[in-house]
Amino acid sequence: MLVQRFSTLVARRAASVAKAGDAYVARAAAPVANAHRDGTSGYSSSAVTSATNMQGKKLAASAAAAAAAASIIFGSPALAYNAVSPAFMVASAREYSIQPSSRTIEVDKLPPLPYKPESLEPYIDAQTMNIHHDKHHNTYVTKLKAALDSAPDLKSKDLVELNKAVGTDAIPSKVATAVRNNGGGHWNHSFFWKIMAPADSSEADYDKSASKDLQEAIRNDFGSKDEFKSKFSDAAVGVFGSGWAWLSLDSHGHLIITTTPNQDNPLMAVAKDKSIPVLGLDVWEHAYYLKHQNKRPDYIKDWFNVINWNQVSDNFSRAQKGEVPATK
Ligand SMILES: [Fe+2]
Repeated sequence: MLVQRFSTLVARRAASVAKAGDAYVARAAAPVANAHRDGTSGYSSSAVTSATNMQGKKLAASAAAAAAAASIIFGSPALAYNAVSPAFMVASAREYSIQPSSRTIEVDKLPPLPYKPESLEPYIDAQTMNIHHDKHHNTYVTKLKAALDSAPDLKSKDLVELNKAVGTDAIPSKVATAVRNNGGGHWNHSFFWKIMAPADSSEADYDKSASKDLQEAIRNDFGSKDEFKSKFSDAAVGVFGSGWAWLSLDSHGHLIITTTPNQDNPLMAVAKDKSIPVLGLDVWEHAYYLKHQNKRPDYIKDWFNVINWNQVSDNFSRAQKGEVPATK
């Protein structure tokens, strides 16, 4: 009875918002049905991802309709609620700039840069950004997709789940290296683009955009922002060969600075300092060689001018709740 009442409620709401987007309903509903067929719980994120891929309020309507379909087909209040909530957040957004779905990274798609490639100049040049995003990141996505095609059981996992599973028996040995390198590369770069912003934007202003909580945590765990910068820079300079430096939240609620080789990250079971990343810096030569050549310390110094402290603060806030940034 409760299920029927809930489904009816959802269906009515969806019908009212779907009027503008009938043409998209089937498209939005498809991943919901597929996710259910495959026995995954990814239907809600799939519905919202569909809304992201298409633009405008019509898609919000479609996502709501898809959620309604889920509730009716599956007949479960819990399933319906999970499917409906994010969709209605989208549908209810007065401006489509509110995109809860933007936190979801699709396993098999290259996310766009959140700004123009020249936006980070003069600190990071447009050519580097173009090659880094369009070629390097894209290659990780392509190779991850190929690996998952040969291990289809992994397709039910989202990108964070794949990363967390690196180093466990959940990843078949035949694709373990490919998933580690390319799943890591995909998540790391998707995360990296979002924690940067133009140097003249308010987001790049630490005093204005770093949350009070983050500023306090940095003071408590490192002494001051300058000391944090110095320690983080030293760690990044010290990465041997290719890898990443991270600011992340450990299981005791402290911010820590850690490094990982290659495309590993602190989410992975293989990481020596498992934690939730808040900020990360790519120190592969492909990230800086065109402009900074062999001078990694200069690149790191420049990069500090283009950190999106607003996003980092959001990441920190989510990490405190156990949520991994850049995911739903
Ligand atoms: Fe990179």
